[in-house]
Amino acid sequence: MKISGESDLSIDFCGIKFKNPFVLSSSPPTTTGEMIKRAFDAGWAGAVTKTLVREEIVNVKPRFASLAFPGSPEEPKKIYAFENIELVTDRPFSVWLEEIEDIRKSYSDHVIIASLMDDASHPEGWKEMAKKVEGAGAHMIELNMSCPHGMPEKGMGSAIGQNPKLAGKVTKWVADAVKIPIISKMTPNVTDISEPARACVENGASAISAINTVGAIMGVDLDTFVPKPAVAGYSAHGGLSGMAIKPIALKAIATIREAVDIPISGIGGIATWEDASEFLLMGASTLQLCTEVMVRGYGIIEDLNDGLSNYMEEHGFASINDMVGVAQRKMRALSDLSKEYKVVSSVKESKCVKCDICYISCNDAGYQAISLREDRIPIIDEEKCTGCSLCYQVCPVWDCVAMKEVSGG
Ligand SMILES: Cc1cc2nc3c(=O)[nH]c(=O)nc-3n(C[C@H](O)[C@H](O)[C@H](O)COP(=O)(O)O)c2cc1C
Repeated sequence: MKISGESDLSIDFCGIKFKNPFVLSSSPPTTTGEMIKRAFDAGWAGAVTKTLVREEIVNVKPRFASLAFPGSPEEPKKIYAFENIELVTDRPFSVWLEEIEDIRKSYSDHVIIASLMDDASHPEGWKEMAKKVEGAGAHMIELNMSCPHGMPEKGMGSAIGQNPKLAGKVTKWVADAVKIPIISKMTPNVTDISEPARACVENGASAISAINTVGAIMGVDLDTFVPKPAVAGYSAHGGLSGMAIKPIALKAIATIREAVDIPISGIGGIATWEDASEFLLMGASTLQLCTEVMVRGYGIIEDLNDGLSNYMEEHGFASINDMVGVAQRKMRALSDLSKEYKVVSSVKESKCVKCDICYISCNDAGYQAISLREDRIPIIDEEKCTGCSLCYQVCPVWDCVAMKEVSGG
């Protein structure tokens, strides 16, 4: 099929038009107004400012750590999880107001969203900041009630988002103070993310964004005994981001969509157009990115737009809206999934590298359904195979093991 790559990527989100669903999340890629403008020039539809606060912030150095593979110094590394102990913006609120005003004037077809944070005992602080960013021209406000480090100790960030009552209260203060739409940003560090989401919607949120980072400690230096990242011999709890948190984010989006009928801005581990498509299909209608932009820069927007556009055309989606939630509608309670549907594994002999991994896994963690021929090619005993797919998951060759259906379902 010939793909023209010219699908309509625009989306109406809370009454505001985004020319494509891609937005920079509140994070290092939105550290300054100048950076946001460069991102808009590159093709990003919108940006959420780094979180604005009224107090002065001093960041520690260093404040990042990463988990990379293959993990050997001989091969180039690829980051699949990122940890940060960075705080909110360290630039003055007054400077941000000027920059928001300037962006609004000079980029009329882009969306600028102000991220705000204060504590839950201070309605006037929230309201005053909200009115000021609205006055400066922000299209929307995102409430940061989800940062897991540094700020919760002061009653801010996830200290609010982890408490549905506080999350609702803060949302109401801001929603009552301004006319522009409010997005409440969720923390994944809760038992049931639908509870704070519902509280925010009941108190005036026009949308939910999810997720902020996942509470984490990246590792420990085995020589110094200091957890990572190390700051003068000590470390602190941080937040995990990047591709490793994508499954957590997708689950959060599905859960929120089941609980409340409201637009969702999906965040967490989006790195490619394929990830972006999955988030849309699961129910998000705008998409925010941070870590992948930190690693590869604003230029990834071209691949994101082209890939998504081609995918839509190939699958007959006329608009982003047509995609939103298609996969979420295929979620069921586990107890409702078919017990009649049966698969067993099969091995493509020509692809097998005779590593024995499928045999070992099935033997020690499965149903002893794999034996090895004399030449070490695995043989599947279909009577013993329960179709769990462990061999398929652990096989190092992409298309060597397959799961074949043996009954309808
Ligand atoms: C270094 C760093 C700084 C961040 N700062 C903020 C912030 O100021 N406000 C906020 O709401 N989220 C902040 N985040 C969270 C991101 O906006 C985003 O929710 C999270 O990183 C997950 O998306 P990702 O996997 O695409 O990075 C930060 C993330 C990182 C990695």
